[in-house]
Amino acid sequence: MDGGIDDALALVLGLRSPEIEVIGITSVSGNVPVRQATVNALRVVELVGRPEVWVAKGAARPLARDPIRAYEFHGRDGLGDSHLPMPQQDPFSKTALKAMNETLSSAKRREVTIICTGPLTNLASLLTHFPESKNRIEEIIVMGGAYGITQYGVGNETPVAEFNIYSDPEAAKLVFGAKVPLKTVGLDVTTIPQLELERSDYARIRKEKGKFAAFAARTLKKNMRLHGRFTLHDPMAVASAIWPALYEFSSYRVCVESRGEYTTGMTIADRRSWLSEDKLSGDPVMVCSHVGARFKRLFLERVTAA
Ligand code: RIB
Ligand code: CA
Repeated sequence: MDGGIDDALALVLGLRSPEIEVIGITSVSGNVPVRQATVNALRVVELVGRPEVWVAKGAARPLARDPIRAYEFHGRDGLGDSHLPMPQQDPFSKTALKAMNETLSSAKRREVTIICTGPLTNLASLLTHFPESKNRIEEIIVMGGAYGITQYGVGNETPVAEFNIYSDPEAAKLVFGAKVPLKTVGLDVTTIPQLELERSDYARIRKEKGKFAAFAARTLKKNMRLHGRFTLHDPMAVASAIWPALYEFSSYRVCVESRGEYTTGMTIADRRSWLSEDKLSGDPVMVCSHVGARFKRLFLERVTAA
């Protein structure tokens, strides 16, 4: 997770959902610097009261380029400039790489799912330094990319590239090509207007009692005041593991562009349906093509319940 508002809300959702077990969290440079992303993850773990869930500090910069930030959207602190108290809990004593590798080594074969809600730097480093770890990953779920399979499947950081992929396209290229089962939840579905938070949803959050609703209201306040809506990118990726029946995925061959003058960070889905599979370009990816409208209500109920 890269420390943004939607990362934090996704983490609240994951930690409060009995359908999945969160083992640990790695922070990564993205929306905000990795140190801030680590603090924000610790704030959520403490809010939910799950001190057994470790938070390990990850990569401070992308594999091969300077970091970019999203302060204008998430604020300088990543959580909407909500100035929440600093966490009491310390980060895990192990690095993100060590923590991930040890978790996978102690797991049975293929029983751990890795959900990425920021740039893929940590995961790419794991697969590079500990290549055998890939055999113990059941599935990788990535919030990232824009595939052109709905009218909303266009870029947000550039006309064609989504922020997480654009931030570290070299890492994305490595993860997409790692031959580990990969699902992506991209802008094609996360930016469908009916699935975004609107003023009426925010008003409902503010009416709810309890610390979780207060946390959501406080971190969303600035965005809702400025933009009047909020896109639930990361919660939608995490929710695909909680409520899979709401999701449809389609198989595509995908290439990640890392050298284009105008197209760096683009996730190019080969949609030439008239060609045989062996003629298509790219790596096999299950791309999310539909999310049921119930997602937003289920998300709000789960995240704001007292
Ligand atoms: O493009 C949206 C993604 O980039 C989200 O994960 C958001 O938190 C930022 O990391
Ligand atoms: Ca994120």
